Amino acid sequence: MASIADFVSTLADDSQDPGAHKDFPLMPEGEAYDMGHAPDGTPLFDPRILDSHEFMRNPYPYYRILRDHYPVFHDKLHNTYWVTRYDDVSNCYFDDEGYNTIPKGSSSGVLGNTQLELSGIEHRRRRNLYGQHLVGQALKARVPSIQRLARQKIDDWDTIDDENVVSEKDGVRTVALGAAFANEFPIRVVCEVLGFPEEARSDFYYWYNSMMSGLGGSETHKQGLEARQHLEDYVEGIVAERRDTPTYLYDQDGKNLGKDIISKLCESKVDDDFLSTEEITSNITLIVAAGGETTRGAIMNLWYLLLQHPEQFAAIQQDDALWDAAFHETLRHSSPIGGQPRHNSFDVELQGVHVPAGSLMQMVDFSANHDERIFKNPETFNIFRDDLYSGKLLRSGYRKDGRCSHMAFGVGPHLCPGAWISHQEAVEGSRILNARLKNPRINFDKQPKDIDGKSLAPIGLISVRELHVDYDV
Ligand code: HEM
Repeated sequence: MASIADFVSTLADDSQDPGAHKDFPLMPEGEAYDMGHAPDGTPLFDPRILDSHEFMRNPYPYYRILRDHYPVFHDKLHNTYWVTRYDDVSNCYFDDEGYNTIPKGSSSGVLGNTQLELSGIEHRRRRNLYGQHLVGQALKARVPSIQRLARQKIDDWDTIDDENVVSEKDGVRTVALGAAFANEFPIRVVCEVLGFPEEARSDFYYWYNSMMSGLGGSETHKQGLEARQHLEDYVEGIVAERRDTPTYLYDQDGKNLGKDIISKLCESKVDDDFLSTEEITSNITLIVAAGGETTRGAIMNLWYLLLQHPEQFAAIQQDDALWDAAFHETLRHSSPIGGQPRHNSFDVELQGVHVPAGSLMQMVDFSANHDERIFKNPETFNIFRDDLYSGKLLRSGYRKDGRCSHMAFGVGPHLCPGAWISHQEAVEGSRILNARLKNPRINFDKQPKDIDGKSLAPIGLISVRELHVDYDV
């Protein structure tokens, strides 16, 4: 899965000094630094801004320049074509053969050969191996487990002996929502749905963390590869057992919910051949890598935004159904994933720009989600907006009565197969948090501040790392 790191890490220069960084001043949120103008008044765009701290914290005014003036921006510095308008991004996503997903960079070393890097028929053959277990009735049956895991995480707070995670003073408890809840909760869900034995949980969390930091392609890459090897060794043992003796998931009343995903993968065939252990491991690593950090980010951003909009939070207290809208508006406003790379299979002409076959084209979901051609006042977080589709998730996306779906899960053949389960995790987890946290509010002193030293730091391109919440006990 392409990350922000993939977006902004490559460094070269189109001028005389390859590799030179330029320092850009930090601007008030929502205002772009003036990079100069062409004689006809068109704002210029310096691609070095993409590597700057300014862009990481305040990207949206720059995406607006791209959408308005360079909707397909040929960035010679990063050797990339950036596609920033909603319609162009979604059209490219739907055309899986014209804009293929091969290759995806440093992730493949750590994750192995996954469906993320396949296109066309090869992709379709694998796509449904486990995707079907994350939707519909299979998912519905798993909701009670998701709720139980959320409750367990919160019950654990009473025994946490770390002041930085949970502390209490004068009837007010402060909890670090990431360390105490959101970092691990999605991994526990994935672990359970896959069918990992409970005793492997802590190893699993370590492997997950190492693999995630290994995706950056930096010095942590080696650790990521080692973790993947450990995971593969471990999975080999489980797969050998489950090929003969599948295991099942049960609800709290002991009702059989069907085989866990690993047992299902053990009996799945592609082209009449059982999947190899390596293929099963790659599927597992993909689910874990794709489903952990993303859902963590969604939960953190959701609470950060809601607690900064108390009137919207109060409305949810009156109408529980609004959690769905809050989840989707969070993904539109501040998605945990910035976009996806594609390679065009043929020469194309897009928005008047000639893109030679085989070029790297970055589809910028962040920008599509803030395209004012689709969403009014896109920088405003508003769970009541009437231009965002928040109904049943469809692979074809949605566009009806002027309402479009957000682009955070992509659309088309590669639409995130975890979209439905992550929705359940974020919404059910949040409902349970909401029931337990009396009068929750952000602990202002502990949160990072923006450049004025007073207001809370914007989310920018990186999901909220830690959120300190006070509540009454
Ligand atoms: C809020 C949470 C999540 C977000 C924002 C998200 C987003 C995405 C995006 C943008 C893609 C790539 C689509 C493309 O290439 O066009 C993707 C793919 C994928 N996601 Fe998610 N995801 C989330 C949660 C999950 C979860 C919980 C799982 C698994 C349990 C999961 C499993 C996958 C897999 C397996 C793929 C590859 C699909 C393919 O290439 O066919 N994701 N996700």
